Amino acid sequence: MKITYFSHSCFLVETASHRLIIDPFLTGNPLAEVKAEDVRCDYVLVTHGHSDHVGDAVEIAKRNDATIISSYEVAEWLSSQGAKAHPLGLGGGFNFPFGRVKLTIAFHSAGHPTGGGGFAYMGVAAGMLIQADGKTVYHAGDTALTVEMKLLGERNRIDVAMLPIGDNFTMGPEDAVAAAEFLKAGLVVPMHYNTFPPIKQDAEGFVGMLEGKGMRGRALGVGEGVEV
Ligand code: NI
Ligand code: MN
Repeated sequence: MKITYFSHSCFLVETASHRLIIDPFLTGNPLAEVKAEDVRCDYVLVTHGHSDHVGDAVEIAKRNDATIISSYEVAEWLSSQGAKAHPLGLGGGFNFPFGRVKLTIAFHSAGHPTGGGGFAYMGVAAGMLIQADGKTVYHAGDTALTVEMKLLGERNRIDVAMLPIGDNFTMGPEDAVAAAEFLKAGLVVPMHYNTFPPIKQDAEGFVGMLEGKGMRGRALGVGEGVEV
């Protein structure tokens, strides 16, 4: 399996048989180097309804005839825009042709602004546990530090955990180190930082904090991949 960072919370996961893109916020993302029209994939995973995670999901799904995997509300919303979508509920997983995706708890909001201060209800935010090729990958989505991560670490052998470190909207580096201790992942990859001024962080400093506690971290550059 290969995991490539496209910036913010967006990753391309290449399994032996399929290509998955997670949280494809490319258009309007100042760090993104890949254009939505150049993405080739079979599945589009969306952790929650905020625009910096939904991003180009509908366009990418339609262009590739790919299936969106997300929470029930987000899946319904995106399928109403013409994309194929598979809904999941928190704690629920499904065996797809490439492997299994389970929706995990995230402590975060999920409304989508409709203008004039209104919001469309988008259910709850989530993380995703992805199992394919004998590997387990956890993408936390946007979340605060939660004790539920301890359960995830106790009940799964996580090879790679992608954790937000940006602070302001999600947990910051210190809480993300605590999350990493709960998850006991083989490798921790920071995400959701440096895209905008309020979430500017020192990713190498975060990796140093992990190493100081005997854990492995790696801050992937934009476009950089890691073989898992
Ligand atoms: Ni969010
Ligand atoms: Mn976000």
